[in-house]
This record gives sequence, structure tokens and C-alpha cells, in this order.
Amino acid sequence: ISARISHMKILAIETSCDDTCVAIVEVRETKGKATFKTLANVIQSQDIHNEYGGVFPMMAKREHIKNIGPVYEEAMRKAKNPKIDAIAVTVGPGLEPALWVGITFAEELAKKLKIPVIPVNHMEGHIFSIFPNKTKTFKVDTKAKIFPMLSLLISGGHTEIVLVKDWMKYKIIGATRDDACGEAFDKVARMLGLPYPGGPEISRLAKLEREKKPSNIILPRPMIHSKDYDFSFSGLKTAVLYYIRDYGPLTEKMKNEIAREFEDAVTDVLVSKTIKAVKAYKIKTLIVGGGVSANTYLQKILKKKIKEIGQKVTIHFPTKNLSTDNALMIAIAGYFQYKKKGVGKNKLKAVGNLAL
Ligand code: KG4
Ligand code: ZN
Repeated sequence: ISARISHMKILAIETSCDDTCVAIVEVRETKGKATFKTLANVIQSQDIHNEYGGVFPMMAKREHIKNIGPVYEEAMRKAKNPKIDAIAVTVGPGLEPALWVGITFAEELAKKLKIPVIPVNHMEGHIFSIFPNKTKTFKVDTKAKIFPMLSLLISGGHTEIVLVKDWMKYKIIGATRDDACGEAFDKVARMLGLPYPGGPEISRLAKLEREKKPSNIILPRPMIHSKDYDFSFSGLKTAVLYYIRDYGPLTEKMKNEIAREFEDAVTDVLVSKTIKAVKAYKIKTLIVGGGVSANTYLQKILKKKIKEIGQKVTIHFPTKNLSTDNALMIAIAGYFQYKKKGVGKNKLKAVGNLAL
């Protein structure tokens, strides 16, 4: 029989930031169509960072060490203790002390089970996060005509526009020059006295103002007219800081207005650069991933603007639970890495600024 069939179970581990995650998937592939079944997808968030308004690497590491064993066991129990064929683990980008916890756990487990470890790039994980739907089974058709594809990756640590010319062929065409856009949400939220993570909080306040007429608060849209695909969010954050300094103390109403204007400003620059790239590269598929992709206002405006340019583009967002960090996306990316490269002989290493 000429059909190429593979069948394996992958356990994936993700500890790059402040979520300890383990997922288990079963994959069957026939003629370029991979069918995934999610057997477990456990996410343990570290609430400890909430009161500090950000993530401290050493604190995250300590929490991962505490959580990884129980999270692994819960995933195995949910999946009914399957025989695992390979382990996928995030090796970067992310916080190195945190990444090491996952890597060490993966290597020890792999040694015990005598199975290979597949190193995975966290950002590649976010790209693959759009494939699962709300059901347990989902397909990835590697023969589908989806290229050229563009991926807007927006999270607490990253803001990148990635051109994907073919499966697993990436070129970063734009990135932030300072803060990541999720980081800007988190910092502005903190200035407004809102808890971490700030994105959902700002979005909640902004929504209260959406139906009303615009306020007088005007924040900058940094780099919106620059000729490249880069971003800058630190000036926007500073503009909020100055506004608070000049007009504070803030009333609830003012906080809502700032939240709205801030969300508008971030959305304007993200959408504007994305649309420009979609046109320039004749994009067929647009994928948005990372924590900020859960922002419903951004989703709405991006869809609207894509429609307006009249180019046939399919847009994909991850389901809400997969927009933030999870190990299911690492399992999917890990499977395709394994198929492409097998497993290397190199010892795994956490690389904080690992490139795609
Ligand atoms: O991908 P992620 O879980 O972690 C990183 O790899 O960084 O992203 C977390 C980020 C946080 O900055 C959080 O504030 C932001 O995603 N976020 C949002 C929303 N939900 C999460 N930002 C804007 N709107 C949201 N609804
Ligand atoms: Zn992430």
C-alpha cells in the first residue's frame, strides 16, 4: 500500500511563561491529512503573579516546579494512561528559568519511557493553535491551498507579523521595537489599578464606553504610517501615564474612556499593518494567535477591514482557551516538527529569544 499512515500519541509540555501546561494528543495521518484527537489539555495558571501586575521569572520557575508533576498526572489520568510515543516540549522563546522546568521534566520522562523528545518553538505553537475547534477531534490537511499565509502573533511577550510561504517556512516581516502589545495592555491596566492579566480587564472597561460617543482623550497610534511592518507600544503606554499625571486622580468614567481609547489605538495599528501586509503579499490565509487574539474588538475590526479590501482571505482565530498559552498547540507543532525533522541528537536547551 502506498498510502503513508502514521499513528502516534504525543505528550506535550509548555512552561515558557506563567502557565504550567500538559496536553496529550493522538494523531493519525493518511495521505497528508492528519486527524488529531485531544486526549487531555490541562492548564494550570499561576495566580501568584496577579498581585504584582507581571510575571517574575524566578517566581514562575518555582510555581512550575510545584505544579508540573500534578499537571502531568492529571493529564495522564484524563487521557486514561495511554502509551506515549514521543514528548514535545517548548524550548523557547520565553523565560529561561521557566522553560528549563519543562525541558528537564520532559527529558527525565523520556528517559524513563525510552521515547524521543521533540523541541518546539512557542511561536510556532501559537500558529498551530488555530486548528483545534471546540470538539475533541480536528483535522489538519497539509495539502490544502492555504499559502501564502500571514500570521499575526500578539501576546504578552511578542508582537510579530510572520509570513508563512509554506508549511513551517517562516519569515518575520515585522515586530515590535519595544514592548509587546499584551505587555502594553498589562502595563496600562496596572496604571488604571486593574489586576493582571490586563488585556481582558481593559477590554471589559472599553466595552462599557463603546456605545457612547467618543471622549476627548486622544492617544497616539505609534508607527501607523511607517513604511515597514514594525510596531512600537512603549510611547502609547507613556502617553497614558502622562494623561493620568496631568488629569488624575481618575474617575471610573475616565478609566473607561482611557481603556476604550487605548484599545482603539492598539487595534488601529495592529489592523493597519496587518492589512498592509495582506495586500502586499497577496495573502490567502490570515492566522491570529497569542493572548491578545482573544480581544473581541480587535477580532471584529480585523474581520471588517479584511472584508472591505475585497481580497479573498480566510481568517482564523484560536478558540478562547487556546489563545493564551497551552500545551495542545505545542503537541500539534511538535507532531509536524517530528515529521519534518525527526528528533535531533542535540541536548535540549532553553533559549529565551529563540527565533522562528
Ligand atoms: O499568549 P499569552 O498567554 O502569553 C504569552 O506568551 O505572553 O498572552 C498573554 C497576554 C497578556 O498580556 C494578556 O493581557 C493578553 O494576552 N490578553 C489580552 C486579552 N486576553 C489576554 N489582551 C487584550 N484583550 C484580551 N481579551
Ligand atoms: Zn504565548
